[in-house]
Amino acid sequence: MIKAVTGTKDILPSDIPRWKYLEQNTEKIFSNFNYKEIRTPIFEETSLFARGIGEETDIVGKEMYTFKDRSDTSLTLKPEMTAAVVRAYLEHSLGSQQPLVKLFYISPMFRQERPQAGRFRQFHQFGAEAIGSSSPLLDAEMIQMSYEILKSLGLKNLTIKINSLGTPETRENYKKILKDYLTDKKDKLSEDSRRRFDTNILRIFDSKIESDQKLIKEAPKLIDHLDEESKNDFEVLKNQLTKFGIPFTIDPSLVRGLDYYTKLTFEIDSGSVGAQTALCGGGRYDLLIETLGGKQTPATGFAAGIERILLACENEKSFTIPEQSIDVYLIRIDKELEFFVSELAGKLRKENLSVDFDYLQRSVKAQMREANKLNTKYVLFIGGDEYKEGLVNLKNMSTSVEEKIPLNKFELLVTKIK
Ligand code: HAM
Repeated sequence: MIKAVTGTKDILPSDIPRWKYLEQNTEKIFSNFNYKEIRTPIFEETSLFARGIGEETDIVGKEMYTFKDRSDTSLTLKPEMTAAVVRAYLEHSLGSQQPLVKLFYISPMFRQERPQAGRFRQFHQFGAEAIGSSSPLLDAEMIQMSYEILKSLGLKNLTIKINSLGTPETRENYKKILKDYLTDKKDKLSEDSRRRFDTNILRIFDSKIESDQKLIKEAPKLIDHLDEESKNDFEVLKNQLTKFGIPFTIDPSLVRGLDYYTKLTFEIDSGSVGAQTALCGGGRYDLLIETLGGKQTPATGFAAGIERILLACENEKSFTIPEQSIDVYLIRIDKELEFFVSELAGKLRKENLSVDFDYLQRSVKAQMREANKLNTKYVLFIGGDEYKEGLVNLKNMSTSVEEKIPLNKFELLVTKIK
């Protein structure tokens, strides 16, 4: 039997109500903050992500699903949305219609990572990108919005971590300071970190290896070497979060795995999901638009992993979905009435009612069992002597009250069920 590919997963009908609940909450909050939805293709030219996310990142280096199509063009299934959104922003000159463009998305993403609880190869993100302002108040909006969404799902066990990576110049200066500090300790670093020492030294902060972490803990912090502008923006952000009543901690090691960040980076972690604690991550990326061929335009954004969030919700039992139901189940008492029942169901469905009935020639008892399983609001019994007298019997399943309705009073039947 062919099975779903490793790291991918079916979202079954029984899972869908939880997904819908999350999506509806998310969309409502995005709209409260005046973000408009954007949908981009599932695949893009590989160079978009290579240039946008950075050649040295794990995503581009080892996780992308890249393939050549029949005309030999290298394409990649999108591993994240920020680069794709910026590509669309530039291609359609969205910035010329509005100086600040606020966009949100909900979409599948693809990364060939080692699958484990909360980590998949096809996963889903919702996220937002605001392109056109360098205001730290917009960064505060981003954090508030993502936090509000997680809270709207009833999540409690959340930690917000923030950091500033400063401007590129600050970072270059700091990289020298870090290099000086680590040079005589290089032998003690893990192999991965030794490689990063030469390619992208800041990413050493991402290392989960204990010996690396020990060294990093003692290292000089970028946050203590910020330029004036980054320092001021960080202060404004912190004050604003405090005014919003949002708790946060400063995590100087939060460099994140994508190269486009400048100034703010942030993550929201959950203590309810095991090893993969990051529900959401983001930050400012003031240079990405230029990198991808536009004029310099400041921007900020975040993305959140839906599977991980739903896992946290499940573990915290943070929300419950009302049981699914239908309006009416038609029960055919006489076998020969199946044509009539099908016709009546068709007419009721045209009235925008949710209706079902038996196609399997089952007994009245079995039909009743099915009706109960479907949690139907009404059952309509059709057949027997009543039918011969031109009547059907409508039973309200919550009160058990039954009512006979003349077959020629279709409007009355509809009103009773509605
Ligand atoms: P990211 O940190 O790579 O950021 O991903 C954001 C979130 O997506 C993570 O916190 C996690 O919840 C989820 N996620 C990532 N990889 C997986 C996976 N393999 N399986 C399940 N969930 C996963 C970005 O993608 C940036 N584009 C965020 C951003 C937007 N920055 C600025 N604007």
